[in-house]
Amino acid sequence: MGKIIIAGNWKMHKTQAEALEFLHVLKSSLEEANEAREVVLCAPFTALGIMSKSLHGGLIRLGAQNIHWKENGAYTGEISGPMLTELGVEYVVVGHSERRQYFGETDETANYRVIAAQSHGLTPILCVGETKSQRDAGETETVIINQIKRGLVDVDQNNLVIAYEPIWAIGTGDTCEASEANRVIGVIREQLSNQEVTIQYGGSVKANNIDEIMAQPEIDGALVGGASLDPVGFARIVNYH
Ligand code: 13P
Repeated sequence: MGKIIIAGNWKMHKTQAEALEFLHVLKSSLEEANEAREVVLCAPFTALGIMSKSLHGGLIRLGAQNIHWKENGAYTGEISGPMLTELGVEYVVVGHSERRQYFGETDETANYRVIAAQSHGLTPILCVGETKSQRDAGETETVIINQIKRGLVDVDQNNLVIAYEPIWAIGTGDTCEASEANRVIGVIREQLSNQEVTIQYGGSVKANNIDEIMAQPEIDGALVGGASLDPVGFARIVNYH
């Protein structure tokens, strides 16, 4: 078991004004929250600065959605570690399936980004997951084990979060059965030298299924997409029973 981390991945949603409005509502809904649960919001780059000023410490941590492996250079459209740490960012999503599917991310580039994140004191959230056709072909374990092995070359497992996000469950409302997510996360854990790494589940996590997901022994948290956009619903997820 690792530390419990509930993270929202806003993807390409929310302007600065919308982000501040969200924080205003979320902060008031988290008063009763269990302090042992870390809450992370992975916001678009453009909202990070103003969110950081609004949070200044507190229960809620900031995350970004990508990081380049170089500190600076001719890499149009990319963001580096120092640019994120200056804004008070602590976490960064790496190798999300949408980056892999639409923007050519590979296990190798995800690995570079994980190492870069760690070298700047950020905690990477490395995403892995199989497609529907890979699952149907009985390849789930092989695909996941390969993603983990390649993604973690030369990576320090003392500052790492992994998110198991089956691609067929993302944004589809088709959640992976909690027991099956638990089983695959157990397979991931067998690949790790540090058994304390936080391993989250992601894919259609909602207020009405979070309790069952978090009741699973191998699952240390959630990476929540669509259901993290509404502060009241997200607070219910953070305050899972
Ligand atoms: P949904 O919760 O919208 O399925 O997205 C999951 C996800 O991709 C989080 O990174």
